[in-house]
Amino acid sequence: MNQDKFRVPDIARMKSARRPIAMLTAYDFPFARLLDRAGADVLLVGDSLGMVVRGEDTALRVTVDEVIYHTRAVARGRRRALLVADMPFLSYQVSVEDALRNAGRLIKEGGAEAVKLEGGVAIAETVRRISAIDIPVMGHVGLTPQSVHRMGGHRVQGRKPGDAAGCRERLIDDALALEDAGAFAIVIEGVPPSLGREITERLKIATIGIGAGPDCDGQVLVMHDMLGLGESCPPRFAKPFANLWRDASAAAEAYVREVRERSFPAPAHAYAEARKEA
Ligand code: KIV
Repeated sequence: MNQDKFRVPDIARMKSARRPIAMLTAYDFPFARLLDRAGADVLLVGDSLGMVVRGEDTALRVTVDEVIYHTRAVARGRRRALLVADMPFLSYQVSVEDALRNAGRLIKEGGAEAVKLEGGVAIAETVRRISAIDIPVMGHVGLTPQSVHRMGGHRVQGRKPGDAAGCRERLIDDALALEDAGAFAIVIEGVPPSLGREITERLKIATIGIGAGPDCDGQVLVMHDMLGLGESCPPRFAKPFANLWRDASAAAEAYVREVRERSFPAPAHAYAEARKEA
């Protein structure tokens, strides 16, 4: 057994020790390898793949089969990180039976070690049933991209007080319901920092923030935002730690230029001819 492997119980240990958890999304083998070697504790195959990998406007079209496909690639690339797979839209909302089957497929066929679901009180029973068959569940509250149409876009949540969907007290209740149902951690997305802090203080399980301020137990970013791999500016909360779009564009332009100038391939890139027999 790999002693260094980061596993589900390590999330709770990190929270108790007040050691921040570093999570990133990943969608393929080479980047999974790279992010794992960089020390990421958790890799999430997010349904954000619909947007950042396929260029769609929302995550809603992503299917279970597609998440399995990407999860397998990430599973081959990572050695240490905990591997979490997103349950895409309609894979867990229709019935508990569907949810159990689809969560099981992500583990069995994809190689994930945990699944992530969006929602709170409304999906608590589903979270309870998935957890009861020993599939670890990560929750996700706040700006939940699968609710994009209800929210009227990818909009900050929890600014208004109240118990209506997307309001502050409701989001706290959602987080508490997920904890009670057995979730081992919760992503909090797109809320004011004071709400990220309040939920983190009220929960015993770890919170992982994305646009939820500095006081969550960990942070997650979409890999493309973290690496500056998008054509346009990333959202306000997403600090680009590199500008791979610029660097990769320069590399591609140099390639095109050298092919046109016939300076590539050079002799160093050519195979040797067969040796003449004496
Ligand atoms: O799909 C995703 O990438 C996510 C993260 C933003 C947490 O849910």
